[in-house]
Amino acid sequence: MTSRKKFIAGNWKMNKTSADGVTLVRDIVAAIGKQADVDVVVCPPFTGLESAAAALEGSNVKLGAQNMHFEASGAFTGEVSAPMLRAIFATHVILGHSERRTYFGETDEIVNKKVLAALKNQLRPIFCVGETLAERESGATLKVIQAQIERGLEGVSKEQAAGVVVAYEPVWAIGTGKVASTAQAQEVHAFIRGLLSNLFTDAVAQKVRILYGGSMKPANAPELLAQKDIDGGLIGGAALEARSFVELVNAAIAIK
Ligand code: 13P
Repeated sequence: MTSRKKFIAGNWKMNKTSADGVTLVRDIVAAIGKQADVDVVVCPPFTGLESAAAALEGSNVKLGAQNMHFEASGAFTGEVSAPMLRAIFATHVILGHSERRTYFGETDEIVNKKVLAALKNQLRPIFCVGETLAERESGATLKVIQAQIERGLEGVSKEQAAGVVVAYEPVWAIGTGKVASTAQAQEVHAFIRGLLSNLFTDAVAQKVRILYGGSMKPANAPELLAQKDIDGGLIGGAALEARSFVELVNAAIAIK
């Protein structure tokens, strides 16, 4: 038996104007806004955060950003900081997503700085790791995950670590329709929990939620979410429509 609350987060990526985002948030809130069995977070693009925050008010659905800079303020054109996100009621922030690593050159070192800055500002990181197809095919998956976890969480204290949410997103499964098998996902999730136990303590590792991300849909979610070390999902495509996102939340509630 696990005492970890399941966690479903929607990563909207670069989709939805703020008006479209409000429509989506309203539909989500109407369907599952009052339930408290599962933690639910929506992560609109920066331009939709403030209006989404207003639409979420009074519900149990939380707000997350998709990225942030590690400095609090300064000459960093185009960037936003943790205090700015806190000021518009964000509680979570996705960090180290593979799209940030691949297209925007984010290294483990940069991701680590962001994780530390988020924690310092009471924002909960949804810290992403995952291997590419070439890495999986060459048998390097666990080595890659270990390096990303160890470097990304360097300097995080035991107390802080329990509040970090880790997302395992195999790069080859993102937006491709190719979901990792439950066995493949559970193996990596268990491995990550073991790493967290070594880095922090077993008690901390037992508290950390480890999400699966990569083509998670209502059809495959129940089996994934039933795995011992899969505590939820980081959802891309299926988070863009209320019906599928709500179905995913309900799948997590059914298992909790
Ligand atoms: P998809 O669910 O569209 O595969 O995206 C997963 C993801 O990258 C979530 O962060």
